[in-house]
Amino acid sequence: MSLSQATIDIVKATAPAVAQNAEKITTRMYEILFADFPETQSLFENAAGDQHKKLAGAITAYAANIDNLGALSKAVEKMAATHISAKVKPEHYPMVGVSLLGAIKDILGEAATEDVINAWKEAYFFLADILIAREKELYAQA
Ligand code: HEM
Repeated sequence: MSLSQATIDIVKATAPAVAQNAEKITTRMYEILFADFPETQSLFENAAGDQHKKLAGAITAYAANIDNLGALSKAVEKMAATHISAKVKPEHYPMVGVSLLGAIKDILGEAATEDVINAWKEAYFFLADILIAREKELYAQA
């Protein structure tokens, strides 16, 4: 499966606005995640205080490289390794996804049109599928 050109175009067009607001978006994302899915809170027990900055960095890098995903392979390896030590499971991805999209809506306001949200939704779940597949391999090896 690959991302549609329309999605790539929209993500690229909105990447600067998301990058500019990345920390606000991820801070809001965690507020939504922990309020709506409190069961995810324990996964972050050992998380550093700057976890939201790492996630913001990952989202920004992803948006910038949406048409060149090979550039992200090292980052994917690191994320997958960290995720399996934190016991992140496939079922957690929709929780983070819906929280992230809600946060993008809250922070970008009117700029987050339905087309923008749909493009980011497709892009998020595309990356989620890559991480889930790699994490499945790592869990099987462990
Ligand atoms: C596409 C989706 C996701 C992206 C881009 C992402 C990105 C990241 C990044 C960049 C890190 C830091 C890695 C490192 O520096 O070692 C990280 C760590 C982490 N992520 Fe994710 N993540 C995603 C999904 C999830 C999901 C679904 C969960 C579960 C609710 C989750 C929970 C965690 C936890 C618990 C850590 C470790 C935090 C710490 O111990 O400091 N992530 N993630």
